[in-house]
Formats: sequence, C-alpha cells, structure tokens
Amino acid sequence: MTQNPMLSGDRFRLGTFSTNCSSGMTPTKIAERWDNSWDNNLTLAKMLDEAGIDFMLPIARWIGYGGETDFHGGVLETMTWAAGLLASTKNIAVFATIHTAANHPAVIAKQIATIDQIGHGRAGLNIVAGWNKPEYEALGLSLPDDHETRYAYAQEWFDLVKKLWASDEHFDWDGKYFKAKKIKGNPAPVRGSVPIINAAGSPQGREFATDNADFLFTPTIDLIRSKDEIVELKAQARAKGRNVDVLTFSHVICRPTREEAEAFLKYTAVDNSDTAAVDNLVNLQFAHAHSFPHDLLAQIKHLFAMGHGGFPLVGTPDDVAEGILKLHAAGFAGTTLSFVDYVKEFPYFRDTVLPKLHAAGIR
Ligand SMILES: Cc1cc2nc3c(=O)[nH]c(=O)nc-3n(C[C@H](O)[C@H](O)[C@H](O)COP(=O)(O)O)c2cc1C
Repeated sequence: MTQNPMLSGDRFRLGTFSTNCSSGMTPTKIAERWDNSWDNNLTLAKMLDEAGIDFMLPIARWIGYGGETDFHGGVLETMTWAAGLLASTKNIAVFATIHTAANHPAVIAKQIATIDQIGHGRAGLNIVAGWNKPEYEALGLSLPDDHETRYAYAQEWFDLVKKLWASDEHFDWDGKYFKAKKIKGNPAPVRGSVPIINAAGSPQGREFATDNADFLFTPTIDLIRSKDEIVELKAQARAKGRNVDVLTFSHVICRPTREEAEAFLKYTAVDNSDTAAVDNLVNLQFAHAHSFPHDLLAQIKHLFAMGHGGFPLVGTPDDVAEGILKLHAAGFAGTTLSFVDYVKEFPYFRDTVLPKLHAAGIR
C-alpha cells in the first residue's frame, strides 16, 4: 500500500480538474484549447506525479453544453480514466466522479475497490447527486425536482456502497430505492474506504456532504464570504463528530509579466469566448443547482468564460502564488488548478510557483 496524498500530511492540497473533458475548464474557440485525449491526460499525469501534485479530479459529463465548440461534448469516462492513470503513476491520488442516478452502487463499490488495488490505495470517489436536467433526459432518467429526493437517493446509494465495503457476509437490502438479495462486496478498497468528495451547494446537499464526505468542494467568488462559509461547514461537520475539509477550484494563467497574462486572458475568454456555451453553462447553474450563490451568478459570467467559474489566478508567478496563499488564509484546505493547455502551461507553474509555495510553508 502506498500513501494516499489526500489522507496524509497537512500541506495545502493541489490538484487538477476536468482534464478528461474537451476544452478543460475554458469554453473558448481558440485552436489551442485543451485536447482531452488519453495521451495528453497520461503525459500530464506523469508530470504532476513527478512534481508532487496531490490529486486529479475528473468531471462526469454525458452531453456537452453546445455552442460552437460543444463545450464538454467530448469526455473520457472517469472510472476507466482513473484506472489507467493509477496504473501509470506512483504517488498521486486519482478520483472517479460518479452520478448516483446513472450507476448502480454494487457496480461502483466493486469498480472503486478494483482501481484502489491498481493504485495501491490512491483512488478516490467524487459523488454527484445530480442537477443537470438535459443530461438526465439524455440518459432517459428523470431528475427529481426537489433536493430532498435527490439527496435521499444519494444517501441510500452511498449507504449500500459502504455496506458492501464493510460486510464479510452476504446480506439483503430492502431500501426505498434499491433492493438486493444475498449480496456481498469483495474486495473492499485497500483501507476499507477511499477519500470521498462531494460538491453540494444546497442546504440538503451540505447535510449530505457533512454526513459523508471528507472533502467538500465549493466555488469561491468572495474570499470573505468563503471564510465564513468554511467555518460554518466545519462546525456543521464537527457537530456530527466528523471532520470535513473544504476545497475550491481555480484557473491559472501564469506568465512572466502581468501584461502577457492579461493578454492571454483577453484572447481566450473575451475575444474568442464561446459565448453560447457560456450562456448555457450559467443558465443551467441557475435552473437546477445551488453550487454558485445565485445572487452572484450574474456578475461572474466572465469567470465562467475564463475557467468555468473558477477562482482567477492570473498574473506573474508572484501574483499566482499570492492568490493561492489567500485561498489558504481563507481556510481552504486546497484547490484544483486548470490551465487552457495543461501540458504546455503546467511546467512554468511547477518551476516558478511551487517553490514560492514551499518557501511560504504551505507545501
Ligand atoms: C468542484 C465541483 C465539481 C463538480 N463535479 C461535477 C461533475 O463532475 N459532474 C456533475 O454533473 N456535477 C458536478 N458538480 C456539481 C455538484 O456535484 C452538485 O451536483 C451541484 O453543485 C449541485 O448541487 P446542489 O444540488 O446541492 O445545489 C460539481 C460541482 C463542483 C463545485
């Protein structure tokens, strides 16, 4: 068994997000936008692994957001993606992202246990209770209108996964959403379970996250607001005898000068933005999810054009490091990073920003 970097040490966690999806986190029309091929993912994973980055988190998506580029129209399936990456790396944690409604819990319990063996204990699971109605319809599923039903379903789904991991005996399951007869889950993950992520925004979802997750993922628009939110979430978990760390996601444009970084931002996210895809992305967030505070959503369209609503880390290596230190000071336990072209841009971040984070004592 190797260490799972999500479980050991107290450094500020760094990961990547959405490398399995076409265009990554940036709905842009530029030809250099992210090509989410397996080969690119593998090249990146090896670089991240060698650089000591903690994790890779994929997005589970079944249909794209339209627009000229059909943003996220091309997506590598996350469980098989994670299996391949875990087999090809040594230290980094790799998550699978799973929609509860689209995947039977007995299948997922076994798949996670399998990829955890492949990675010698480095697998993780991001649980999505559902929000994207057109995607549900594409799969012939119906998204319950109320959050109570969505999260009650997710809770029973995860209870069954955990029981399959914990039980040495065959058992029957007679729940509201699942029935099973003489079922048994063998093997369990290497440590009996894996790090769990959930990215709920709604009150019902945050109950679910503080009951079940090790890491709650949430966007940050206003760091003062985030600071209070993190204190509240951690207190909510503590009242249940649990510890939950809060993570966020950021988009990086790191260049030797501010002018170069700003020029690339303008080129990707203003002059060549796939505006129809950005509109769809923002409108769907309003319609079914509470991940972004609705009072702020309309003001942050430009952040969706830049990096799917991620925290902007745009500027020189000093600016980017300073932004990460602010996230740390607000109480976040880590952030994902996205780049327009992860393979091309990560090395500059690695060589210039990571040493500053080491020197500042957060890595
Ligand atoms: C960082 C992050 C990652 C997410 N990953 C996915 C994903 O891969 N697939 C997906 O359908 N939804 C994803 N979501 C959506 C959330 O899982 C959640 O369903 C959504 O925020 C709505 O939550 P709510 O219904 O509690 O408001 C993600 C959200 C965030 C903030």
